[in-house]
Amino acid sequence: MSLAFARFRRQIAASTGIAFGADKRYLVESRLAPIMRAHGLSGLAELADAFERGDNPALIREATDAVTTNETMFFRDRTPFENFRTQVLPSLILSRAKERRLRFWCAACSTGQEAYSLAMTLDQEATTLRGWSLEILATDLSTAALETARSGAYSQFEVQRGLSTNMLLRYFHRKDDSWRINEHMRARVGFRTFNLLSDYTELGVFDVIFCRNVLMYFEPETKRSVLARLAGALNEGGYLFLGATESASEACAYFSQTTPDGVWRGGRHAPLQLRLA
Ligand SMILES: C[S@@+](CC[C@H](N)C(=O)[O-])C[C@H]1O[C@@H](n2cnc3c(N)ncnc32)[C@H](O)[C@@H]1O
Repeated sequence: MSLAFARFRRQIAASTGIAFGADKRYLVESRLAPIMRAHGLSGLAELADAFERGDNPALIREATDAVTTNETMFFRDRTPFENFRTQVLPSLILSRAKERRLRFWCAACSTGQEAYSLAMTLDQEATTLRGWSLEILATDLSTAALETARSGAYSQFEVQRGLSTNMLLRYFHRKDDSWRINEHMRARVGFRTFNLLSDYTELGVFDVIFCRNVLMYFEPETKRSVLARLAGALNEGGYLFLGATESASEACAYFSQTTPDGVWRGGRHAPLQLRLA
């Protein structure tokens, strides 16, 4: 592995938690090439120098965006959203009956599909939730991904991934070449840039956190530290949703796994749903 690649890899791991192996060098370099060209840099060594100096925030932001993987889709893995609607939400409606207030956090929301899936799920329960105050905060490190999320505009290909025709026609409208989420749904989600390695206190506490398909990019030590912070950001009796392939081994120190009615027993990669211990 070249010295410059090793340096850049360390810098990205320190600033974002994302750990990529030496085998990802070609992929990373090909994603970075257009950015380095645009900024007049001759190679990774100069990029690593710029990261060290920290005097070009636009370059750092673009290079960081380029190494994030923003793969997502509406109602990804389906089961977590079904579990949310049929088990988690009813349980929270009981336990928060006095406050009638629920806060949700999509902690690595990418281009917004997860947060809007949550907003649509809550909308389907509007009758039960009448009079409740509901807040959805959706955050990500990638400013480019957040730009799409905020716009609420998706291609035909993107809406075909996970959305039923029914949901598409109910919550989206066509505008030019894209499908836009209706304004009243878009307004239900607050988007902001947030790095999972930073301090969570300013965000307050949440009843449900979706932190799906991001911890898998982190080293075990970073995973543990993020999970500890997530535990601190979860209200008593709140729920954390992790991705389908994310191991619970590090989470066990902070959470206990719930199996309310064995919904997850079936699949090898059944999504994990963890409840604050
Ligand atoms: C694969 S996407 C997952 C999106 C969505 N949660 C899902 O499951 O479909 C991973 C997201 O994590 C974000 N991410 C990576 N490191 C992060 C960090 N340190 N803080 C916040 N977001 C981060 C990336 O920008 C990317 O959008």
